[in-house]
Amino acid sequence: MRAAGGLAHTVGVLGHELRNPLAAAVTGTALLRELIDADDPRRQVVDGVASELQRIAALIDHYLDFARCGQTRREMVKLAGILSAAASRRQGVTVAGALDACVTGDSVLLERAFDNLIENAFAAGASRVAVEVHNHGDALEIAVEDDGPGVPPELRARIFESGFSRHGSTGLGLGFVAEVMVAHRGSIVCEHGRRGARFVLRLPTRVLEATV
Ligand SMILES: Nc1ncnc2c1ncn2[C@@H]1O[C@H](COP(=O)(O)OP(=O)(O)O)[C@@H](O)[C@H]1O
Ligand SMILES: [Mg+2]
Repeated sequence: MRAAGGLAHTVGVLGHELRNPLAAAVTGTALLRELIDADDPRRQVVDGVASELQRIAALIDHYLDFARCGQTRREMVKLAGILSAAASRRQGVTVAGALDACVTGDSVLLERAFDNLIENAFAAGASRVAVEVHNHGDALEIAVEDDGPGVPPELRARIFESGFSRHGSTGLGLGFVAEVMVAHRGSIVCEHGRRGARFVLRLPTRVLEATV
């Protein structure tokens, strides 16, 4: 799934237009829930609505992420900045290696990509995530490894397909991460980690404007 040009703009506008009414619906549902006793069967109905609204919000966020891939910015991005920002949102994430390295690209997209990988690790049951950067001169290799259950070998390619989820979520996260890599002339693979899952991202250190 890739939204480019006019379509990217339309998706972006639509996403932003939907966010405010959706936020109002989420707040209204939370208030309504407070008015209903815990043992009242109507509470289940409200919980069902709240969970569907959350799903819609997650879908909108993912589509906005995809839309942004069609308008990838080119700027000098310090890896230390985006990795420490992504790591700071969760306990148990360590970041090490060649953190002074830079890539040309879109800091928002790259940070969202690492957010997705870290969120996935915890959603799968990991309690620790280690991010390590290796600088090979013309390319950076960034390994994101966790101590969760890992990904079975037969699913390591399929998990990148949009819509594929093993825990009933949107299944759009890894498709988006792969799209961000394409937009930066990079790549991502899922490997067998020492304990859990290991995602290895390769990003060229220089991406010329004309080639992307
Ligand atoms: N670190 C991980 N450990 C184990 N499984 C993972 C990991 N990351 C992703 N997966 C698997 O890949 C699937 C797809 O991930 P993703 O595209 O982000 O969709 P979602 O998170 O919405 O399920 C997940 O449902 C999960 O089964
Ligand atoms: Mg995900």
